[in-house]
Amino acid sequence: QKSDNRPAVIWLHFQECTGCSESLLRSTHPTVSNLILDMISLDYHETLMVGSGHQAEKSLTDSLLANKGKYILVVEGAIPTKDNGIYCKVHGKTALDSLKHAAEGAAAIISMGTCASYGGIQSVGPNPTGAVGVRDIVKDKPIINIPGCPPNPYNFLSTVLYYVTFKKLPELDQMGRPKFAFGRRIHEHCERRPHFDAGRFARAFGDEGHSQGYCLYKLGCKGPATYANCSVLRFNDVGAWPVSIGHPCIGCTEPDLLFKTAIADKV
Ligand code: SF4
Ligand code: SF4
Ligand code: F3S
Repeated sequence: QKSDNRPAVIWLHFQECTGCSESLLRSTHPTVSNLILDMISLDYHETLMVGSGHQAEKSLTDSLLANKGKYILVVEGAIPTKDNGIYCKVHGKTALDSLKHAAEGAAAIISMGTCASYGGIQSVGPNPTGAVGVRDIVKDKPIINIPGCPPNPYNFLSTVLYYVTFKKLPELDQMGRPKFAFGRRIHEHCERRPHFDAGRFARAFGDEGHSQGYCLYKLGCKGPATYANCSVLRFNDVGAWPVSIGHPCIGCTEPDLLFKTAIADKV
């Protein structure tokens, strides 16, 4: 049991690229150090923790026991289910077994990123490892999806700080996403929207319309059907987001059709 009020957080990595953690490392208000030293007790995170091997495994086991029923479990990455999950193992255990074990004592689970939320890139057809998101495996715990590839770190931080402050989870939409972040479509607040409304479109990368900042719909932008706050929150405190730098939104926060179709078109 913790001697302070910081909630214990256990962060597991499965089939992923660590882009979600990388995204979080670049947050500045609060910084990651503020977060993990002052607000939460990050008891296990394979890429941030100093310990390794048996020492790291002990930290995980100790925290699972000491904080049973109270810790927040964060999952980064999809979970392969084919052939009993042998395509992702950490410390000799499959991701499938590790997730089920860690989920048992969790108060809530945050699926960080589109991989953990819906299977992400790994689950694009033919999905050779049978990759799925957390919600396809764990059915008896509150699960908050923070999709995005990578997700905006402030959507994660806001969710954690909401939980720390109010001791409850934020309101979620039908896809398990916090409504404060995923309640509106990108298209509603896009700076290129006046061009859309006026029928001014870029038709090829580098053409006159593209260089004029026209709407990217004809280049495949999925903003009209993508629920996320990218066009408002933006990324990395530099005010940029995919559409602002000239690339159509590929709907990376959406579960199936948009993101997977966009990826499948490119492979
Ligand atoms: Fe990487 Fe994207 Fe998956 Fe995050 S959601 S682990 S950034 S592939
Ligand atoms: Fe909508 Fe995309 Fe055009 Fe922005 S660039 S106005 S999100 S279609
Ligand atoms: Fe993803 Fe589209 Fe935002 S690609 S990062 S949801 S602009």
